[in-house]
Amino acid sequence: MSDKKWLKKANIQPSIWQDNNRRWAAPQHYTCSYMAMFPPALPHYFIRRFTEPGDIVLDPFSGRGTTAVEAMAQGRIGIGNDLNDLAYVLTKGKIANPNLDDVLARLDELEKGYFRKDWLNFSGMPHKVRMIFHPETQKHLMYLKRELDWKNDDIDAFLSMVLMGAMHGQSSGFLSLSMPNTFSMGWNYVKKYIAKHNLKRPNRDAFEVIRHRCKRFLKKGPLPGEGFAIHGDVRNLSESKQIKCNSVKMIFSSPPYLKVIKYGLYNWIRLWWLIGEHKSIDDKLDDEHSIKPYLNFMKEVLETTLPLLDKKSGVACWVIGDVKDLNLAKLVWDEVGSKIEMTDSNGEIQRYRLLGIIADDIRDSEKVTKIWNSDTDKSGKATLTDRILIIAHENSNVEAILGNNEIKWNPMSVN
Ligand SMILES: C[S@@+](CC[C@H](N)C(=O)[O-])C[C@H]1O[C@@H](n2cnc3c(N)ncnc32)[C@H](O)[C@@H]1O
Repeated sequence: MSDKKWLKKANIQPSIWQDNNRRWAAPQHYTCSYMAMFPPALPHYFIRRFTEPGDIVLDPFSGRGTTAVEAMAQGRIGIGNDLNDLAYVLTKGKIANPNLDDVLARLDELEKGYFRKDWLNFSGMPHKVRMIFHPETQKHLMYLKRELDWKNDDIDAFLSMVLMGAMHGQSSGFLSLSMPNTFSMGWNYVKKYIAKHNLKRPNRDAFEVIRHRCKRFLKKGPLPGEGFAIHGDVRNLSESKQIKCNSVKMIFSSPPYLKVIKYGLYNWIRLWWLIGEHKSIDDKLDDEHSIKPYLNFMKEVLETTLPLLDKKSGVACWVIGDVKDLNLAKLVWDEVGSKIEMTDSNGEIQRYRLLGIIADDIRDSEKVTKIWNSDTDKSGKATLTDRILIIAHENSNVEAILGNNEIKWNPMSVN
């Protein structure tokens, strides 16, 4: 079946997810914003359309973990991988999927421990961070930075993820003086802004702020599905013992954009808390490529991840934004996807085929880059149209992939 026929038969209607973009989904989605994130409605539509409960859904570039959370909210197995430590902690914390009682018990334990500490021994917060938080809040942050073991403990990962979302913003629900939530403004800009507006750092109790948020995010209980998070380069996913070839029903992901976002620099405050610096993040991520290296990168991405797909009925959906007038999704298919030929362990050649490319026009107000102010405006480079490049194995059974045309919107099926 040609891609045009497939698209006609699939009858995919962007208006269905575009009309559901407000806060309707599992509360776990809304714990922390992330640059270039997509709305839960987008993976929701495709997950319900092309997978069944119990199926594995993978996002190799998980960002804030939206695909994995939505898969779990729909009773699937959600796997999220990302190389950025911030994205990893957000994904891991959400997938940890704890219940509220355990989270509150750990927070109480931490708070009791805090009052037993000798605070004179705590130093090491850089001046550029100190100017943003009240001295009492600084102590809370330093203590939590030392105590929360987000790498090894699921509940600590959940609490760290909640703290990341609370780090800076514009209301009393945030720990900082008034500043944007989605990204960190440059420290020189913040310094001037504080002086100009005579801003005072508010005295915020981090334990209280986190407790309040945990209650909000877990008010509907844990997600019904399960999952796990991986912290690594996408190119190592094939080596991951956790994901077998031919096992994934859906890949739903948006790869890094072309030279648009610096995940390290624009998250320097959260990254200071997590790993003590932000530069290594921009050094290691693949979000700075120009077109040729980007296509080489996407070749490696597809060659690594497509063999993980279920050959019979697996679908890979790649959300790729246009860059200026360039239809990057089409270019990725024409230059990379259509040319993939890999020999599997049985010596057979594996190829993939295009099921379709769907245009998803992004409303101006929802563009993440819109939030930059005029001093740092990058909106000229921002994407106006996202396209969803849908690929399957060349021998896949198209009828099975099409599934049910009718999507019943399911905010979250909790028992
Ligand atoms: C467009 S964002 C994904 C956003 C996500 N869909 C969401 O809604 O939050 C692309 C992600 O790719 C990650 N990334 C960049 N290079 C990577 C690599 N080589 N391996 C794995 N992840 C990488 C970035 O850290 C970023 O989180």
